[in-house]
Amino acid sequence: MKLTVFGIGYVGLVQAAVLAEVGHDVLCVDVDANKVERLNQGYIPIYEPGLENLVKENHAAGRIRFTTDAVAGVKHGEIQMIAVGTPPGEDGSADLKYVLAVAETIGREMEGPKIVVGKSTVPVGTCEKIKIRIAETLKARGREDLAFDVASNPEFLKEGSAVADCMKPDRIIVGTGSPKTEAVMRELYAPFNRNHQKMIVMDVRSAEFTKYAANCMLATKISFMNEMANLAEELGADIEEVRKGIGSDPRIGYHFIYPGLGYGGSCFPKDVRALIKTAEGVKFDARLLRAVEERNNEQKSVLFQKVERRFKGDLKGRTFALWGLAFKPNTDDMREAPSRPLMEALWKAGAKVQAYDPEAMQECQTIYGLRDDLMLCGTKEAALRRRVADRDRMEEFWRAVLRRDEGSLDRAAHLRRPQSLRPEGRRQARLRVSQHRQATGPGLGCVDKCRVRSEPVFICNFAEIDGVDLKPRWPASKAWLLQ
Ligand SMILES: NC(=O)c1ccc[n+]([C@@H]2O[C@H](COP(=O)([O-])OP(=O)(O)OC[C@H]3O[C@@H](n4cnc5c(N)ncnc54)[C@H](O)[C@@H]3O)[C@@H](O)[C@H]2O)c1
Repeated sequence: MKLTVFGIGYVGLVQAAVLAEVGHDVLCVDVDANKVERLNQGYIPIYEPGLENLVKENHAAGRIRFTTDAVAGVKHGEIQMIAVGTPPGEDGSADLKYVLAVAETIGREMEGPKIVVGKSTVPVGTCEKIKIRIAETLKARGREDLAFDVASNPEFLKEGSAVADCMKPDRIIVGTGSPKTEAVMRELYAPFNRNHQKMIVMDVRSAEFTKYAANCMLATKISFMNEMANLAEELGADIEEVRKGIGSDPRIGYHFIYPGLGYGGSCFPKDVRALIKTAEGVKFDARLLRAVEERNNEQKSVLFQKVERRFKGDLKGRTFALWGLAFKPNTDDMREAPSRPLMEALWKAGAKVQAYDPEAMQECQTIYGLRDDLMLCGTKEAALRRRVADRDRMEEFWRAVLRRDEGSLDRAAHLRRPQSLRPEGRRQARLRVSQHRQATGPGLGCVDKCRVRSEPVFICNFAEIDGVDLKPRWPASKAWLLQ
């Protein structure tokens, strides 16, 4: 089938590549000329496991192409898929300007029947708005004779496993009231339904709402667990044991009950906020969702508060090692990542950060640029090593050596060699890493490619070095301390 995808972001690019892989003829349109040019040269702008090969192979086979030419895009596909961003507006509601801009382009350029598919996460009623925008544009052209329909087809992929999720979706939600549109969508997704029927067809508004309800449910699980973790710490209970205890109940399950530093990324925070706003629009007080968001916002400062308490507020000149920058493993996405408020708070307090992440270093550099208090390290071990930045303390050490000043020597002794993880620390880290292997959403990512089955893993992570213990009962809050 001929398909046009507007927006080559995480969703658009992955879905386009997967649909090309099963044989569809896909033309991708984006307003970002630089991104399009680089894609045409074989450079993949985002990191997702398996994506690079998928795009390159299908590009070479001519099944996926990239352009900025929206006119060609509208001409190409009988299906016009909208996968552009829906960032939060100033009041937290979803900003639909990109979605409606595409709708207008379709209305302006279409010359034959089209099925417009809303793939972006959009508030209930947006497909209706897309319909109105296209109809108005056609009317202005005097082309009301042109037939079109608008369906909702929200995306449920997870960053970090986006290709696998799209190749083997748990479900394909399609919102439409039209049997003809339903038949076209069934044909589009037929290759994914061979084993058993994954497609669930419902009305448009319910499909739009399903996406928000799913993300809000997951965000609620995370905030609930974070609340339990904080409370467990006060009560002297070990949340890790509690997690195992409750996860074993099949009604609760093990997924999404890892405590951490709060959910981040481009979806949960904005979607929870957007649904709160949508609810306000119909004078409904989404009390639970407001609490979920509040808990999440507070959670992002928990680790900094622990660090600050441990050092009695004296963070100036200290260096902290940070493993994990992305909002979760296997991605370079740092949108609303908990690492950001943490680093920013450390910097504000005069501390320095040495960070490592296998995928997100470039993204981190793009966001923060070059700064004296941020050093991005090539390996996770390097992030733990003493640096030139510690020159003052080294000088203090050497001066003490020269003076044979035992007291100062003792104080500065740990600076003599690059500090490394103590064996028991390593063992514990490994244990925690494996416990957190499937962690989702929350926290800082410690992605360790070397030790745990060569599989990148994720852990909320700060650990401790050189005998300085933050005494965390909360497993996600160990800190490796450099000085
Ligand atoms: N990222 C995820 O994990 C995920 C998962 C499910 C659903 N979603 C939803 O899918 C949508 C897209 O998310 P994303 O993360 O892929 O966004 P993104 O920001 O990574 O990509 C959006 C792309 O749209 C392009 N764009 C903007 N206006 C355009 C226009 N008029 N024509 C063509 N291209 C245009 C941008 O240049 C950008 O490349 C959002 O609504 C998001 O909530 C995202």
